[in-house]
Amino acid sequence: MIKVFTTKKDFDHYRNALKSEKIGLVPTMGNLHKGHISLIEKSTEENDVTIVTIFVNPKQFGPNEDFDKYPRTLDEDLAKISAMALLISAQKEIAVFAPGSNEEIYPQGFSTTISVGPMTQKFEGSVRPTHFDGVTTVVYRLFTITRAHIAYFGQKDVQQCLIIKKMVKDLDIKIKIHIMPIVRNAEGLALSSRNQYLSESERAEALTLPQTLVKIEKLIRTKQDYKTFVSDVLKNDKRWDYLEILDSDNMEAPSAKTQELVIVAAFRSGTTRLLDNILVPVH
Ligand code: PAJ
Repeated sequence: MIKVFTTKKDFDHYRNALKSEKIGLVPTMGNLHKGHISLIEKSTEENDVTIVTIFVNPKQFGPNEDFDKYPRTLDEDLAKISAMALLISAQKEIAVFAPGSNEEIYPQGFSTTISVGPMTQKFEGSVRPTHFDGVTTVVYRLFTITRAHIAYFGQKDVQQCLIIKKMVKDLDIKIKIHIMPIVRNAEGLALSSRNQYLSESERAEALTLPQTLVKIEKLIRTKQDYKTFVSDVLKNDKRWDYLEILDSDNMEAPSAKTQELVIVAAFRSGTTRLLDNILVPVH
């Protein structure tokens, strides 16, 4: 049985009574798929209590973005979490905090913004300039509300992961950040709540994204000229917002110190913008 809270007051009451030193947090915006479930599973393996938050955070959407249209499927989400809760040890607990209104997270008069700085303006930030401030502000709120010991995020949103790690380091927040691998469908497309915006033909077109990343990965691993390939792709195909090979530690140009590369891209299929990346170790 999972416990569900829709007000901060009820959640606080529950949290204040928890004695465990092993509390995991999985922040989500709901519309759960197997990518989210993989984070919840990992947290239940590593913690006594797992707190899943479901909150479509208005602060991370720009004025012309899909906040209104973002899929809200709380009943289905709770059913999915309940189904997986049946499979875990009886000693483990899952609690869901799904605020019933924005005021539960941002009470009247809330005026603070957490901003990590230059990293928030590159790549995703160059098309969504206020997005990451919205993400760090809500994630900070979720950290302080839940007082979790470990928080789980997906590699799918690599820039989000780096920005959250930087916030934790700069503000010396006492929480560990665990990053989990990207979960894909059988065809290789990274699972995303936004995939459901795709028509059938756009979904087929979207496969260009993972297929191109895999091709670049092979070129890198076999020490072939990937740079010409990438510049040809970008020259000939305007659907790419960016496609770059970077140092996975900081999303900057690789240097002699780079230990792992990330091939990172944003690709438009129809009007839907899709993100993906692949990590490649440097030998
Ligand atoms: P959301 O898009 O719901 O994603 C919640 C978490 O699931 C994120 O850490 C994301 O990286 C991870 N995730 C999404 N797709 C995944 C996949 N295919 N495989 C593995 N993990 C995946 O990211 C957010 O929400 C928000 O920005 C949030 C952090 C909750 C703040 O509002």
